Amino acid sequence: MAYHNITTSLENNILTIWIDRPEKLNALNKVTLDELHDLLATTKENNDVLLIVITGSGTKSFVAGADISEFADFAYEEGKALSADGHDKVFNYIENYPKPVIAAINGFALGGGLELAMACHIRLASLNAKMGLPEVSLGVIPGYGGTQRLAQLVGKGKAMELIMTTNMVSAEEGLKLGLVNQICEQEELLDNAYKLGGKILKNSPNAISCAIKAINALYKDGEDGLKREIEEFGNCFGTPEFIEGTTAFMEKRKADFKSVRS
Ligand code: COA
Repeated sequence: MAYHNITTSLENNILTIWIDRPEKLNALNKVTLDELHDLLATTKENNDVLLIVITGSGTKSFVAGADISEFADFAYEEGKALSADGHDKVFNYIENYPKPVIAAINGFALGGGLELAMACHIRLASLNAKMGLPEVSLGVIPGYGGTQRLAQLVGKGKAMELIMTTNMVSAEEGLKLGLVNQICEQEELLDNAYKLGGKILKNSPNAISCAIKAINALYKDGEDGLKREIEEFGNCFGTPEFIEGTTAFMEKRKADFKSVRS
């Protein structure tokens, strides 16, 4: 599939994805979401990619939301389908992705843009970032997981406040609230994401994948997180990466997980 609204680069096993509609502040229209899903699905099977960084093209915006012009005339069924489809194809898909996904928030992250960042496993923001869920000002609510993930990240009371007021949060405030993990100058944002990514990639990709599933289990209805942890803990045993990791420790050397990758 040829992509029109996203661009990519692959270096050191890290795939960077730019949401690339800068003239619309990288708003997520249907084509962009379809392309993102296609790329993520293909990348799942690509052994050269061990980690993903998602950012926005240009210096002004990460993603300024879902494309309002595409849903302004929707009624109940279409609205519901828009939300459900987005959850399945992109937002839940990223949250449950077996490889780490880092959001590099390089400007506005509003509505679906903040929801995209919150679906990622880790968030870095540049100092010009402005983050918020302004949906109620449009007569709608966040529909790509925002009501759930904002409350998970910053707590129920603050999520209520931010969603009801539509207030935007700065990078510094976002750091204090736990909405983002790190903040930095815009010029350093991608390098910092790659530095963090490089640190993650020193560890076992299989174990990381199991950890993502176990941590996510806390937030899933009907899942017992500790049971999931036991299951995923067991899944690590006997794998080539587990054997390499434990052997390296006993041989007093650094584990080389690349050497045992298929
Ligand atoms: N959907 C569709 N188009 C959008 C968009 C969105 N979510 N966000 C920005 N754009 C478009 C604008 O319509 C404009 O297009 P145009 O040049 O063809 O008119 C272009 O991107 C630039 O945006 P503009 O509003 O002119 O930039 P600004 O610097 O004055 O304001 C924002 C920036 C982010 C404050 C403003 O664009 C905004 O409020 N966007 C919508 C945010 C939102 O409500 N998101 C939640 C959607 S569910």
